[in-house]
Formats: sequence, C-alpha cells, structure tokens
Amino acid sequence: MCVRVLLCVVSIIGIVSTQDQDGILLIADVVDVVETTTEDNTPEICKVCDCGDGVLDCTKRKLVHSFTLDEWDQLKGLNIKEVDLSGNSIEMLTVISELPIERLNMSNNRIEMVDDWCFKYLENLSVLDLSRNELEDMNKRAFWGLLLPDSKIRPLSKMRHLSLAYNDLHVIPKDAFAFMHNLRFLDLSRNPLGIIDQVATGTLTELPFLRELLLSGCGLETLPDGLFRSLRRLERLDISNNKFTTVPAALNEAITLNFLNFDKNPITNLSEKTSISSLIRLRELRLCNTRLQRIGPGALGGLASLETLYICNNPRLTTIDEEFLNWKDDDGTDLWPALKRLYLHNNNISEIDPDFLFRWDQITDASFHDNPYVCDCNNQWMVDVLVPLITRINGSAADMICTKPQDVRGVSFAQLYETSKTLVCPQSADTAELPGSHTAVVLGVLIGIFAAFPLVLIIVLLWKKGHFAKCRKKVESESEEENDAL
Ligand SMILES: *[C@@H]1O[C@H](CO)[C@@H](O)[C@H](O)[C@H]1NC(C)=O
Ligand SMILES: *[C@@H]1O[C@H](CO)[C@@H](O)[C@H](O)[C@H]1NC(C)=O
Ligand SMILES: *[C@@H]1O[C@H](CO)[C@@H](O)[C@H](O)[C@H]1NC(C)=O
Ligand SMILES: *[C@@H]1O[C@H](CO)[C@@H](O)[C@H](O)[C@H]1NC(C)=O
Ligand SMILES: *[C@@H]1O[C@H](CO)[C@@H](O)[C@H](O)[C@H]1NC(C)=O
Repeated sequence: MCVRVLLCVVSIIGIVSTQDQDGILLIADVVDVVETTTEDNTPEICKVCDCGDGVLDCTKRKLVHSFTLDEWDQLKGLNIKEVDLSGNSIEMLTVISELPIERLNMSNNRIEMVDDWCFKYLENLSVLDLSRNELEDMNKRAFWGLLLPDSKIRPLSKMRHLSLAYNDLHVIPKDAFAFMHNLRFLDLSRNPLGIIDQVATGTLTELPFLRELLLSGCGLETLPDGLFRSLRRLERLDISNNKFTTVPAALNEAITLNFLNFDKNPITNLSEKTSISSLIRLRELRLCNTRLQRIGPGALGGLASLETLYICNNPRLTTIDEEFLNWKDDDGTDLWPALKRLYLHNNNISEIDPDFLFRWDQITDASFHDNPYVCDCNNQWMVDVLVPLITRINGSAADMICTKPQDVRGVSFAQLYETSKTLVCPQSADTAELPGSHTAVVLGVLIGIFAAFPLVLIIVLLWKKGHFAKCRKKVESESEEENDAL
C-alpha cells in the first residue's frame, strides 16, 4: 500500500515535471518563432556575408557590384567596425553610408573606378586597403571628405593606413590625399608611376605625419629633390625593385629614416660616399639583388645607428673594401656602427675582412654562405675567430666553402675549424710577383749609377780645381755667424 502510494506520487511529480519541461519548450519555440520573424528584417548584406561581432566578412563571395547606399544603410545599428570585401570581382566602388567602419578591405577585386567622395561618410575610417585592383586613374576626389554646408571639407582625420599597391596608376594627382593628412602609412608599390613628378611630389609632401612610404616596383630612376624635406617623421622607406643606377641624392634629406630598402636596383658600384651616409638614424639597410660590383672605402660610412645590414645575392659583388663601413669623426677618430646583424651571403667576395667591424662580439645574427672564399693564410682569422663566433650565435659555417686554393677546394670553414687547419700563404703568387719587382729595383739602380756617375765625377773634379771656393767660404762664414748668434 505504502509503496503504491509512493509510486503514484512519483508518477504525478513526473507528469508535473514533464509538463514543466513542455512549458519551457513552448516558450523556447515562441522565442524561436520571434527570432525567425526578425530574421526577415536582417540586412540583405548579411544574407550574403557574415555579420558578426562588429565584422562584416564578405571575402570571396563572387560579388560583382559593391553595395548600394540602401543596402549599407541596413547595417546601421550593427556597429560594424570592420568590412572585408577582399577577393571579389567588384569593378566600381560607390559611396558608402555613414557607418562606424574603421577598417575597409577592398583588396583583390577588379576595381577600376572609385566614386568621388566615396568614403566621405566614414568619419572613423582608419585603414583602407585598395591593393591588387585595376585602378588606372586616381580621381583626386575619391579620398576627399564630406562637403560641409559652409563649403569646407571635413577631413578623414582618422585615416592612418592607405594601400594602393598593385594597381595600374601612372600618376598621383594633385591634392589626392589632401583630406587624409594624418596618414602614417602609404603603399604605392607596384604601380607604373615611372617618375615622381612635381605634382606627385606636392601631393606626397602634404603628409607631414607619414611614417612609412612604399614605392617598390614603380619603375623609378630617380627621386625628386625635396621629396623628403617636409616628411619629417618618415621612418621607413621601400624603394626596392626600381631602376636606380645610383643612390638618389634626395635621400640626404630623409634623415629621420630608420629603415631603407634598396634591394633589386641596377646599381653597379658604391665607390664613395653617397646620400646614404646622411642617414644617421638608419638602423636597417638592405642592398640585395643588385648589380653591385664594388663597395669602396667609407661608401657606407656615417651610419652611426646601423644595426642590421643586408648585402646579399649580388652575383657580381667582388670587392667590399675593408673600410666600407668606416668613417672618421671631427678629431679624426675612426668610427664604425655597432652592427648586430650582418648578412653578406651569396655575393662574389673571396673573404670576410676582420676590419669590416670593430666589435665582432656584438653580432647576434649573421650569414656568410655562398661566397667563393679563398682559403689562404690571409683568411686564417675566419677559421680561428669567425667560425666560433658564428657557432656561438647558432649560425652555420658548414655552408661557407673554399673555392681556392686547390688543396682545400670544396672544404667548408666548419671543417677547417674542426681540424684546426693552418692555412698556407699564397707562395706561388709571391714568387711570381718578386722577380718583377727585383728587375725593377735592379734596373733603377743601374740607371741611377750610369746616369749619376759622370755627373759626380765632374763635380768632384771641379771641386778639386777650386771652382767652388767662393761658395765654400760663404757657406762657412754663414755657419759661423749662426754659431755666434747661438
Ligand atoms: C586585406 O585582405 C587581404 C586578403 O585578401 C590581406 O592579405 C590583407 O592583409 C588585408 N589588408 C589589411 C589592411 O588588413
Ligand atoms: C565614430 O566613432 C565615434 C566614437 O566611437 C562615434 O560616436 C561615432 O558615431 C562614429 N561615427 C560613425 C559615423 O559611426
Ligand atoms: C661608380 O659610379 C659612379 C656613378 O655612377 C661613377 O661616376 C663612377 O665612375 C663609378 N665608378 C666605377 C669604379 O665604376
Ligand atoms: C667573381 O670574382 C672573380 C674573381 O674573384 C671574377 O673573376 C669573376 O668574374 C667574378 N664574377 C662575376 C659574376 O663578377
Ligand atoms: C642558440 O640556441 C640555444 C639553444 O637552442 C639558445 O638557448 C640560445 O639562446 C641561442 N642563441 C642565440 C644567440 O640565438
């Protein structure tokens, strides 16, 4: 009896609880229904793209058109701060609504046209990526701000980062960035500019806060004077992959630079000081993949802040003068930069000279592989000092191979070090040189004797005959006077 009642109670409780659960489920269903009904009001854009967490992700959606103002308007209230439309096929970029967008990525589309005043409502826009499109002409008003009732223009004052890289721009029009005057970063790489003309210079020099300017692969042969005069905060400059055959003189005004990339330019020699020596704040310099044949004494002198130096993949670079980094201060004291990283791999140099640096012990990273090293006694220090140094910084001397002389050809510096090899001096070269110099000396002496002998004979004879008597007396009396005076 007691058990039956208990069972009954349990079953009643069970029913109640399931009813409760049903009730909960019901409410949940209602919520679901409410949600699905609001889903009908979700912005059109969010049906194609992901709208989550302040980010509109529209990458690779095969879009051909950018959105209309109406479509953009539907995003109001979603607090979208980042829009990524990269990897579509959009051909024309039209005006975007007043939204709190801070980052807009339009990279990898087919944009040929950007509407005038396209970003005027995006007062918080800070990063704009238009790289890898098909822009040929930059209509200068594309990047202008909102026209205010008093016919002033509200600048896009938050803009910091603009990339127009990998387009087809031939010119930079006047005032193109006039309302983005706070830009810190500007990438114009891989546009066929060919030349930075006066107009472009004017446009670029209106960016007083610019920190980084990328002009790689723009077909430049020269930089205009004054380009850097008002870019007083420029720290990083990439002018790699252009057509410079000499170091552009305009760099001597880029004294705030701490990074310069001069890779992939057809420069053939750095015989003497260039404008690079003015870059006293430069911390990293790149000179790789050039046609350099020679770097002369002091050519890179004056770089007092240099820490990282890349001179690599220059197949014709055969001579680096031992004093190439060296300069003198006003007192004539020799100075070197305190290099921490030195990369001299894959050139055509036969030695690493101990005088390249003053403090080899400060090096924390280096590479010297793939050079045709001559392993004679002149490079003994490389075995005894350089190899241990490379090993200490976790580098490898196994890929530093001797090409000369014959007996150590193909042997690595790591092996030379392991076997405590004493490198022999180039005897043959010495003896080959000596006969030449001997002949010269002997010849000189002979000529001297034959030419001088008759002359001396004549003088002696004349002397003996008293022809110089007057002269002798005068000299004697003069020396007597001098003695008196003393
Ligand atoms: C824009 O998107 C591309 C990928 O398509 C990416 O490589 C690039 O870094 C993005 N740009 C910015 C500024 O984040
Ligand atoms: C820009 O940011 C400010 C501050 O976060 C905000 O008040 C303003 O509404 C934003 N502008 C737009 C167009 O959303
Ligand atoms: C190095 O280049 C400069 C400028 O192009 C030139 O005047 C000089 O003659 C060159 N020196 C050598 C040794 O080629
Ligand atoms: C490399 O240097 C050697 C002499 O050390 C020279 O004969 C050779 O022509 C150089 N190679 C190139 C590509 O300049
Ligand atoms: C070299 O490698 C060791 C072990 O991997 C590491 O502890 C050390 O910090 C490295 N030294 C340098 C200079 O990178």
